[in-house]
Order: sequence, then C-alpha cells, then structure tokens
Amino acid sequence: MNTIKNNLAIFQTGMGNKRSIIFIHGFPFDHKMWDFQVEQFKNDYHCISYDIRGLGESPAGDGQFTIEEFVDDLFDIIESFNLDKPVLCGLSMGGYIALRAVERNEGKLSGLILCDTKAEADNNDGKLNRTKGIKEINLNGVENFAGNFVLKCFSDNFIKAHRSEYEEVLNRAKKSGPIGVKGCLLAMAARTDTTGYLPKIKIPVLLLCGEHDHLTPPDIMMAMGDIINNAKFSLIPAAGHVSSVENPKHFNYEIERFLKEI
Ligand code: MLT
Repeated sequence: MNTIKNNLAIFQTGMGNKRSIIFIHGFPFDHKMWDFQVEQFKNDYHCISYDIRGLGESPAGDGQFTIEEFVDDLFDIIESFNLDKPVLCGLSMGGYIALRAVERNEGKLSGLILCDTKAEADNNDGKLNRTKGIKEINLNGVENFAGNFVLKCFSDNFIKAHRSEYEEVLNRAKKSGPIGVKGCLLAMAARTDTTGYLPKIKIPVLLLCGEHDHLTPPDIMMAMGDIINNAKFSLIPAAGHVSSVENPKHFNYEIERFLKEI
C-alpha cells in the first residue's frame, strides 16, 4: 500500500499484527533499493519503506533539510502507523538517520540494522566534497552529479555483471530534483557525530558491510562493532557500498538470522 503522509511517500507491505521493519534508503537513491528485502520479508514482517524528503517520490519543498528533520519524519511514521518498537534498517545516509534516531529515542525501537554506514560526522574534507557536489549540480545538473556519485557506490564487478540493474538504479537517481539532492548533501554535511552513543546502545545491532565498499569500508564498521555492546558484524561478499542491491541473497540471509535471534 502506498500512502502520502506529511509529504512523504510511504510504502507498506505485509501489514497485520506482525513485527515491523522500517527500511531507510541511502543517498541519492529511493525506497526501491529495498525491493529484494521487502519481497523476502513481507510474509513474516510488516515492511515499511519510504522516500526520504527530496528523493524518489517525496517532494523536496524548499530543500532546507537537516538529519534532525529526517529523524522527525521517521518518528512521525512510527507514531502515525502505531508501530510497536520497529526494527530499523538503514543503509549509508539511512544509517545516519537510524543511528541518530536511536540516540534520540532508543525506547521506541527494538533492533537496529546498520548497513554500509558510519557514526562519524563529515570531517573538513567531507564537507568540502559536499560543497563540490552542490557546485557540480549548479553547473551541470543532477544527472552529471548522480552519474559520478553512483559509479563510486557500486563494485566494478556488479556493474559489469548486472549492467541493466545498475542502470536502472542510476537512472532513478538521475531523475532526482536538484533541490532535494542539494538539500540532502547539506543535511549530511551538517549532521552530528553519533560515535559517543555507540557504547550506550542497548538494543541488538547487526552491522553489514559490502566487502568492496570504498565509501564506508569494512574496517570502519568492524570498529563500530567493537564499541557497541550487543553487536554482530557480517561482511557481505561480492558487494560494494549498496550491499542490499549487490548481494541481496547474502544480505537477506544475515538479516533473517538476526531477526530470528532478537
Ligand atoms: C549514501 O549512500 O547514502 C551516501 O554515500 C552517504 C554519504 O554520502 O555520506
């Protein structure tokens, strides 16, 4: 079922009296990056995915976004659908949102799956890269920016072996509006650092990272796993930064195992 609520496009499947999982996508993607997961888990779980403000089918408005507002949106979804302590599953930017949500109100949640993400905020080089991205969009448009950015997200082997799947993801990213994409870049550049909360997390955590992820490499996530008390780390073989799409079979296997244990 698709709903527009509070200017957010929200997609629900497998509804009923089941445990809920909220899937939060990465940048500059949309809810479709969770298709393989929703398809597998919809029989046993209430699966909710949505388009982050300014991406996919969620309108950008004025594009003045913050990660705090993205977390407010997530809490609004939990409240408006009366979700009882959902599990959050966030990839990259979705992971920044999920981690900050846990830091702000862990009591609303029962589990956390962090994929290809990190707790640190952008350092100066990271912030300068965001401004370069904004300039590139202003000069040459989103298509050009998305072309360069998305290429860095996927492993070379995936692009070679799954060209049409890659192009489908890329083309959807290219269709994003400039206001939304620039708004997300600014929100990520201004996000807070959630590292200090990692040792305080009490809910169970699964950390997943593509073995060829160059944007948030496995050692960063393994180090997070060492700090979080109740965490398990798993490497996703033959995948880059978008591990949910690049190796859905292994990715889903790890999630299924985790969900059965918590
Ligand atoms: C993402 O996949 O969401 C981005 O790589 C996050 C980022 O640019 O920091």
